[in-house]
Amino acid sequence: MVADMIVAAARHTDSLGWSQAKPAACPCILGGEHRQSIGGWHMKIPTLELANEFLEEGQKLNPGPWIAHSKNAARAAEAIARYDNSLCPETAYILGLLHDIGRRFGFSYYKHTIDGYNFLKKLGFDDAARICMTHTFDSSGNWDCSKEEYDFVIDFFSNVEFNEYDLLIQLCDVLSLSTGFCLLEQRLVDAAIRNGTIIFKEIRDMTEKWKTIFNIKMHFENKIGCSIYTLLPGVIENTFRISTDDISKYLSISSND
Ligand SMILES: [Fe+2]
Repeated sequence: MVADMIVAAARHTDSLGWSQAKPAACPCILGGEHRQSIGGWHMKIPTLELANEFLEEGQKLNPGPWIAHSKNAARAAEAIARYDNSLCPETAYILGLLHDIGRRFGFSYYKHTIDGYNFLKKLGFDDAARICMTHTFDSSGNWDCSKEEYDFVIDFFSNVEFNEYDLLIQLCDVLSLSTGFCLLEQRLVDAAIRNGTIIFKEIRDMTEKWKTIFNIKMHFENKIGCSIYTLLPGVIENTFRISTDDISKYLSISSND
């Protein structure tokens, strides 16, 4: 049993902990159809080209760090999906790219989720619209929606069951800064300091959200057989704001100890 675990661990990481796991072979990698179906239904999402156009338009309408953050969330989603047989990497990338597309309508807090949902839903991209809502499942900070929108949010979440893409983008949203990838702990604490810890104007323990995010991380790591951090280039440099040279220097000092 232990031997099996060691063999499995050795297969998935090299001596530095970087992943050696074999990427999942979605047919789209070979130029075929995407693995885009959820529960047998074909997913309604825009093409990669159109998704990029939406983001470029968004940059013109409301430039800001959310553009780079969205691209990083897309890269993280694609990287993880490549190792998960149930997900299509390109679909994951498109959904990551569009999760904050509601920000094209200007600065907002929670409202960007509803704006993004309405924008994509009107165009018939229901599954991408859904991600705009599901990528963040609470509202800390300022509540900037109307009573009707509040009712819509409550109704939406009472009828939704998160699928694998919902969970993936929730995770990648937290992993991705505009400057690159970071440890979950860093982003969660940073958001709590900036926005406070009050959810939906009710006093609730923010650690419940944190536990959910860490459970999602564990869920994907169990599926792909390695740490998600091994799939995210630059996560150490970005989290600790150090250069690759500094890491090499540290490694050479420790190996000389
Ligand atoms: Fe985001």
